Amino acid sequence: MMNRTDFLKTLGFGAALIGTGQFVASCQSGGMMPGMEGMNTPSPTVSTGSFTTPLSIPETLTNLTTLTAKPRQAVVGGRTISALGYRDGLLGPTIRVQNGQNLAIRLQNELTEHTNIHWHGLLIPALMDGHPDQMVKSQGTFDYQFSINQQAGTNWYHPHVHGTTGKQVTQGLSGLFIVESPEEKALNLPAGSLEIPLILQDKRIKAGGIDYSPTMMERMNGYFGDTMLVNGTEGSFLNVATRYYRFRVLNGSSARMYNLALSNGQAFAVIGSDNGLLPRPASVTELLIGPGERVDLLIDFSGQALGSEVFLRSNSFSGMGSGNGRQAFNLLRFAINRQEPDSFRLPADLAPAPTKPAAAKTRTFALTMAMRMNGGMHRINGKVYRADAIEETVPLGTTEIWEFDNSTDTMPHVMHFHGAQHQVLERTGGRGRLMPHETGWKDTVLVAGGERVKVLTTFTIPGKFVLHCHILEHEDDGMMINFRVA
Ligand code: C2O
Ligand code: CU
Ligand code: CU
Repeated sequence: MMNRTDFLKTLGFGAALIGTGQFVASCQSGGMMPGMEGMNTPSPTVSTGSFTTPLSIPETLTNLTTLTAKPRQAVVGGRTISALGYRDGLLGPTIRVQNGQNLAIRLQNELTEHTNIHWHGLLIPALMDGHPDQMVKSQGTFDYQFSINQQAGTNWYHPHVHGTTGKQVTQGLSGLFIVESPEEKALNLPAGSLEIPLILQDKRIKAGGIDYSPTMMERMNGYFGDTMLVNGTEGSFLNVATRYYRFRVLNGSSARMYNLALSNGQAFAVIGSDNGLLPRPASVTELLIGPGERVDLLIDFSGQALGSEVFLRSNSFSGMGSGNGRQAFNLLRFAINRQEPDSFRLPADLAPAPTKPAAAKTRTFALTMAMRMNGGMHRINGKVYRADAIEETVPLGTTEIWEFDNSTDTMPHVMHFHGAQHQVLERTGGRGRLMPHETGWKDTVLVAGGERVKVLTTFTIPGKFVLHCHILEHEDDGMMINFRVA
C-alpha cells in the first residue's frame, strides 16, 4: 500500500524535497513550491461575492418531455459566460413528479460530444439508468421512459460519460429530480415558496467560460473551484419571513465538501437525506456533506428580528484530505424581511424506519491508491474501470452488506452505486459513528480516510450498473467498476 509520500516519490517529484517533508507539508497547506505551480493547489481560496443578488431558483417542471443539452450562455456575477445547459443559465430545471407517475423524457444531444443522463437515486430499469455504456452521440437523441416507484425524496440527474462526467457537470449539466408522495404531503412540511432547493457548486470562471482542466494532482485530490455558486448564483440572498422553511440541499460539486451551519450558531433540523425522509428529525448545528449527497433541512427563522440577517455557511473542518475544509465561507444570506405567523410544528416521526433484512453476504471493496500518471490513481479492489468487465455479480433479490474499506489512505471517497438504495449500518475508524443524516435511505456515502463503512442493500433491479466514487475526478480517472444483478 502506498501513502502520499511514496506516491509522489514514485512519480519522481524530487526525492530530496520529500526527504525533508517540505513538499508534502506545502502541498497540504496549499502553498507553492517553485516550479510546481498547479501541482500543489488542490483547494484555491473561495470567493463568495457580495450577497446582494437574489437567489435564483431553477424552474420546476411537472411534465417535462425534452431536455436539450447544448452550449448555452449563463450570467454569473454579472458576467455573461458560455456554459453547457439543458436550458439557458446554469443547471437544468427541477423535475418534480409523484410516486407512481410514468415519465417519457427525450434527451436531445446538441453538444459536440457524447452525453447521456443518469437519474441519480431513481430505482429504474438498467437500460434507462444512464450507464456509461449508454451514450447518446452528438446530434442524437434518446428516449428515457420509466415509472417512479419509490418514496418521496430529493434525487438528481447529470451526465455519466466515462472520462467527461466531471467536465460536463462542472460546465452546467445537472438538475434536481424531486419525488413526492401522499405520505409525505400528509406531514404538511413547509411547501411552495417555503420550500427552496439549494444546489451548491464551486467553479472556476475564466476567459468567459467555466474552466475545467484538472492537473494530475487535481485528479488525485479533486478539482476545487474558487467561485462559490448556489443555484448558479454567486453571492446571493433570499428574503425570508419569521417562520420555518424547508431547504433541499444538493452538494453538486465535483470534490468540495460543505460543513453546513448557520452564522448565528442556531440549530437546524435534518429531516431527510439522499432518497427520502429520515425516521425522525435530528437537530444539528453542523452537517458535513460530500459530493453527490443531498440533505433536507428545516430552518426556523421565527426567533429572528425583523431586518436582521443570517448566513448559511460552510464551517471549516479537518480529516477530509488536503483539499477540503481549510476555509470557512458563507454560502447564502437570509434577510429576515417580514413577520408572519407560523402554525407549523416539527413532527416527531417522519417516515417508517427502513427495515434491516438479514444479509446473505458481505462484499468488501478496498479503496486504495496506486502510482499512475495516466489513469487509475484511485482504485476499487485494485481495479480501474473497464467498460466491458463485470467485476461483481449479485443474485437478483438478495440483500448484501457492502463494506467500503478506506482504512489505508488519508483521501476521502464518496461511494455511490446505481440500481439500489442503501442504509448505512456502521462506520468504524475515523469519525467512528453514523452521521445524523445517515438514518434514512441513501445512495451516496462519505468514507473518510481511515474509515470503514458498511451499507445494507437489497438488489431488486436486474442488469449492469456501476459502483464509483462521486468525487468526479476520481470517477473519471477510473475509480469505478461494473457489477451485474442477475
Ligand atoms: Cu451521480 Cu453514477 O452518479
Ligand atoms: Cu447515481
Ligand atoms: Cu474518491
